[in-house]
Amino acid sequence: MRSVTTAKNNVLVLDGSPHTDGVVAQLIAALPFGEATHVRLYDTPVAPCIDCRACRVTGRCALHDMDALYGALEQADVLVFATPVYNGSFPAPLKALVDRCQVYWSRRFALGQKPPIARHKRVYLLSAGGAATKKADGLLAALKPLLTVLNGELVAAVHAADTDTRSDFSAELSAVTNLR
Ligand SMILES: Cc1cc2nc3c(=O)[nH]c(=O)nc-3n(C[C@H](O)[C@H](O)[C@H](O)COP(=O)(O)O)c2cc1C
Repeated sequence: MRSVTTAKNNVLVLDGSPHTDGVVAQLIAALPFGEATHVRLYDTPVAPCIDCRACRVTGRCALHDMDALYGALEQADVLVFATPVYNGSFPAPLKALVDRCQVYWSRRFALGQKPPIARHKRVYLLSAGGAATKKADGLLAALKPLLTVLNGELVAAVHAADTDTRSDFSAELSAVTNLR
């Protein structure tokens, strides 16, 4: 089972990059929130949702590789999605985690739990993309319905664009440093 120790201040960083020294890693390092639980999804990928629909009846996932991570998600006060853009969306390991949050959709819409997670979360999106597009529209679109079932509120999004040709990300790093 995945082991996750939730930091005292309940900041959870979901890291969708395979790189420990990429632009996403730089954005994460600039976060001003202090101690955080940093989960690198490429290091220990979660299994994909198999749409078995058990969660529609039990409110829980039938797979158990993510039990500790579900706990960390539910306890988080600050949730950071930090990720490169892959084909307009999340890289596969982070997408798998997003899909496994179907359990919260089931709690809300099949079982009528409102909210499905009691603890409200401030949510931040840090992203990087090789293209010149200034915003991570695909990620923002995918996050919107997810956050309604996570009891999360998107506070800010910082996107580092054009990473294929740029090497100076001081403006984006400064924006992250100034997040509150
Ligand atoms: C499989 C794959 C798909 C990608 N798709 C996109 C894309 O749709 N849009 C984009 O802007 N960049 C895309 N990229 C580029 C990455 O998002 C970019 O290199 C990013 O800076 C990587 O960040 P990292 O090194 O911190 O992981 C893709 C890269 C890979 C490997």
